[in-house]
Amino acid sequence: MRISVNGGKQLCGEIPISGMKNAVLPILFATVLIDGVCVIENIPDISDVENSLKILTAAGAKITKLGSGILKIDTRNINSEIIVDKELMGTMRASYYLLGALLGRFGKASGYSSGGCKIGERPINYHLAGFEALGAKAIVSDELVELTTSSPLKGNIIDGHFSVGSTMNIAMAAVHAEGTTTIINAAREPHVVDFANFLNVCGANIVGAGTSTIKIKGVEGLHSPVQPYTVIPDMIEAGTFMCAAGMVDGSRITVKNVIPKHMESTVAVLKKIGLTVTEDGENITVERNGELQGTDVTTAPYPGFPTDMHPQVMVLLCLAGKGSVVEEIWSDRFEYINELKKMDASIERHASLGIRASRVIATGVSKLKGAEVNAMDLRGGAALVLAGLAAEGTTVIRKIDYILRGYDDIVKKLEQVGADIYWENVEE
Ligand code: EPU
Repeated sequence: MRISVNGGKQLCGEIPISGMKNAVLPILFATVLIDGVCVIENIPDISDVENSLKILTAAGAKITKLGSGILKIDTRNINSEIIVDKELMGTMRASYYLLGALLGRFGKASGYSSGGCKIGERPINYHLAGFEALGAKAIVSDELVELTTSSPLKGNIIDGHFSVGSTMNIAMAAVHAEGTTTIINAAREPHVVDFANFLNVCGANIVGAGTSTIKIKGVEGLHSPVQPYTVIPDMIEAGTFMCAAGMVDGSRITVKNVIPKHMESTVAVLKKIGLTVTEDGENITVERNGELQGTDVTTAPYPGFPTDMHPQVMVLLCLAGKGSVVEEIWSDRFEYINELKKMDASIERHASLGIRASRVIATGVSKLKGAEVNAMDLRGGAALVLAGLAAEGTTVIRKIDYILRGYDDIVKKLEQVGADIYWENVEE
């Protein structure tokens, strides 16, 4: 499959936003801690969810689809002895949450840790240090992580290093630990809050999620949520479609059912780029009337500007002809640059800022032209779709499996607002 876009069309209309990928994934794995039945709503139809469900099923969960985006997950028969297939675990980065969840429930866990978009080094040393601080022993050999305990896990003070994954993985392991675990330098992302809310409605005692200090008082058992749990809307999907409104002058897109607070740093950047942004309750409208302006952006953990919006905003800066993004989170989130260059983008990477950070600069107004390009990772792939909307002629985006990991029917949603975009059923 590939995606083709005939660019240059003004976009106008409303786009409903799906549940958030980076919230739903830890929540799905957190059901392992429940030892019961959970109903979860607003689950996006993306391949990372599909693969998470395959992993959970392989570990012994029973999953039933109750309706569109609604799943019933029964984790009573999870088997801590099963080592889920390495290839399946490697389909996604978030499979590392299985380790924290199994450790939290059974006091032991074995699983492979690898996979995810190739956007830089993705070690799990913070996760493992956290598990060890709770009293587990970690042995890693050929990417197989084995976690064991000789006595019940005990609460401790643990550094989360502002890492999204390690904050939630450590929290999972700590949910049943004796005493209190304090995660300092915890990630403050909205998905961490949603994950903590989910566990709290199941009986966990987690306070402070959304701040940099999270305290988890160990509880004996968790129970099924009384009501179905609804996942928060995806701030990155929303941000991506808000950028789409900037691709062609005269466009106007309203993203529906978002949490405006989560969008603040993205909105601030879009305003600096010259887009008009208006908020109306849970909807945000973005309009482009006239030329775009350059600006300089640096990615940072929440509430800073999200790294997961970097490539999409860079397309706007290419159209503006000036501006830069300094990438501070991922050491190699730059493969999209060469693909954008195939579309005649004037863009350069300057890798002179230190170990992790690199600056990407728009070096002159880009009149983007349609080309055959490859999605090299999820957000870089989304940026190519955006560039295709702006480009003259036809853009063909290949390797779209990356895009399907995190965008729930991006083609249909863009078609709804007038884009000339379609799937092509071609063997790659
Ligand atoms: N890091 C370490 N050691 C660790 C963990 C992280 O050195 O043990 C480093 C990473 O190499 C990176 C930084 O810390 O440089 C931040 O990593 P973090 O742990 O926060 O990232 P993650 O949990 O692996 C999640 C999202 C990413 C998103 C980042 C940052 C999921 C499944 N993935 O990754 O999402 O970019 O947080 O916000 O939640 C995406 O959706 O496109 C995506 C890549």
